[in-house]
Amino acid sequence: MLGHITDPSAEGGLARRDLPEPEPQEHDVVVEVAAYAVNRGELALLQGRPDGWMPGQDVAGTVTRAAADGTGPAAGARVVGVADGGGWSERVAVPSHRVALLPAEVSYAQAASLPVAGLTALRALRTGGPLLGRRVLVTGATGGVGTFAVQLARSAGALVTAHVSGSSRVEQAKALGVTDVITEITDDAGPFDLVLEAIGGRVLADAVRRLAPGGQVTAFGITSGQRSEIAFFDFAQAAPGGRLEGFFVYRTGEQTFGEDLATLAALVADGRLLPQLGVVRDWSETVQAVDLLRRRAATGKVVLTRG
Ligand SMILES: NC(=O)c1ccc[n+]([C@@H]2O[C@H](COP(=O)([O-])OP(=O)(O)OC[C@H]3O[C@@H](n4cnc5c(N)ncnc54)[C@H](OP(=O)(O)O)[C@@H]3O)[C@@H](O)[C@H]2O)c1
Repeated sequence: MLGHITDPSAEGGLARRDLPEPEPQEHDVVVEVAAYAVNRGELALLQGRPDGWMPGQDVAGTVTRAAADGTGPAAGARVVGVADGGGWSERVAVPSHRVALLPAEVSYAQAASLPVAGLTALRALRTGGPLLGRRVLVTGATGGVGTFAVQLARSAGALVTAHVSGSSRVEQAKALGVTDVITEITDDAGPFDLVLEAIGGRVLADAVRRLAPGGQVTAFGITSGQRSEIAFFDFAQAAPGGRLEGFFVYRTGEQTFGEDLATLAALVADGRLLPQLGVVRDWSETVQAVDLLRRRAATGKVVLTRG
């Protein structure tokens, strides 16, 4: 089968080659991939594993082989799933607890955008408890995780502020239904009960300073590449009980990834969640699509489809 593999001699360090078919474990389904998405975290992995690594976590497609242990969907089912790797290929093995059936209303391209970014948004928001009437700040709001987080927080009844990288992104954030869009976390922003923080550097430090009493910053990314300078007195406004929590989606219980993917797919099906597909290309253009994400030329998700 054809699939992508890192190769330092290829353009962009990534080549599409003839590769061995996936070798599923007992509890894996094999998926014929119809669409896959690129995550920012994978950009670092592409550089860190330059020789012979098969990327690809977020996949959507059809089950061609059910799991040998009888778990998960049957052959022929339309599914979305989180693979351990190898998803930028014609076929991939995915643990059955990490796949969900797709409602007919959800396209493969939409579905492929959901896994890592959607699960991160959903589960990071849950760290803030019930959100009805709560003030929530989402940084990186026009990015992959951010576009899902803004919509999910609004659906949960939160009063959402979107933080974007600059004035050119304000209209894209407003299109997600938020009226409060900021490019800097100034002293009159918030205060916020929950901040989903993707950027790091000064943005993370400013977010801590603008917490409401008992509020929480859930930090899950460092897109700026910059560390933050924070001191205890930055929590003064949040006292008593302001918190900063580090969030890692793969440590939040992958056994239930499939359940949460089903929730996300159902929200897409009933129109409450609209995946923002900033770039959709044929999979022959994977290297170029990855480059668009690297150069920050895309908003929302970057998705590749197979004819
Ligand atoms: N902890 C976890 O489990 C987990 C899971 C998923 C993702 N992540 C991490 O979370 C972060 C976001 O992921 P993603 O998939 O949403 O990435 P993404 O699609 O690239 O989005 C990043 C967002 O941050 C904005 N941004 C970049 N640099 C900025 C800066 N210096 N100041 C302000 N805004 C800036 C971007 O704005 P532009 O539109 O201008 O580019 C974009 O809206 C990444 O660091 C990723 O590795 C962590």
